[in-house]
Amino acid sequence: MIHRDRIEAARNAAIVRPDPFSVSTAVELWTDPHISQQMLSAHLNPHLDAASRTGPFIDGSLRWIIDRFELGPDSRVLDLGCGPGLYVNGLARSGASATGLDVSSRSLAHARSVAAAENLRASYIESNYLSTDLDGQFDLIVMIFCDIGVLSSTDRAQLFSNVRRWLSPTGSFLFDAHSVAEFETRTEEAVEAPQLMNGFWSAEDYHGFKNTFVYEDTRLALDKYTIVGPDGSRVFYNWAQCFEPEQLTEELGEAGLVSELLGDVAGGTYDATSREFALIGTVP
Ligand SMILES: C[S@@+](CC[C@H](N)C(=O)[O-])C[C@H]1O[C@@H](n2cnc3c(N)ncnc32)[C@H](O)[C@@H]1O
Repeated sequence: MIHRDRIEAARNAAIVRPDPFSVSTAVELWTDPHISQQMLSAHLNPHLDAASRTGPFIDGSLRWIIDRFELGPDSRVLDLGCGPGLYVNGLARSGASATGLDVSSRSLAHARSVAAAENLRASYIESNYLSTDLDGQFDLIVMIFCDIGVLSSTDRAQLFSNVRRWLSPTGSFLFDAHSVAEFETRTEEAVEAPQLMNGFWSAEDYHGFKNTFVYEDTRLALDKYTIVGPDGSRVFYNWAQCFEPEQLTEELGEAGLVSELLGDVAGGTYDATSREFALIGTVP
């Protein structure tokens, strides 16, 4: 039973607009025991474009990546935020040596079990791509599903600098991002419900709020989830930075990488009306 006063207090706090990137719960979102189970189910549903893209998209993307980057037995690939290894294991099936890095032990356990069952050249590291250091250099680094958008500009600079350090002298970095067209679909809203999103946020009884904030001047959106349970409240912040390609091209340039613009991570052609685009950063 959740006390009415607690729900009322949370309702008042939920409408408070945080400063851009003033708080991050990116790691908690993917490591909470209950939420990470929900996320893993979403990842593994090939029909959902939620935690991972759909199965058919991933299959096409894998074919294109293997061909475009000429992956073979001598190739070393790194996937940042690899989740349950849908790309890492897929790329390892082509014979490449693939490494996945993620903060979610639950997703990594799934990824490792698939790799072991198929005897793949895939290995997994439980770590944070902002703070980890890695031995070795990679011919291809990927970061897929617009995860760049959860990072502040400071964290992006850190990530790009890490990527530059981990790339081999002829290496490439492939990632995708939300576009201006995506930003234009975002509108402010406030919704609340008992067991918001059908129990996604907790196995216990809860009352949930979803407050969407839009920061027009910086093309930033935030979904703020306030979850009120019998013992207290928790808040999760899902930031979504949207970009003009030129901005990321410039930032990659500052990290020492030269950009090529694409429509998506399956080799599509760039389309300014599309809600996403992809970039390849290469060592000059
Ligand atoms: C939207 S999912 C995408 C997973 C995968 N790239 C895919 O497309 O199937 C984002 C992943 O990034 C991971 N992640 C988020 N922040 C991270 C961080 N700072 N360091 C490492 N992994 C992180 C999450 O645990 C999650 O598995």
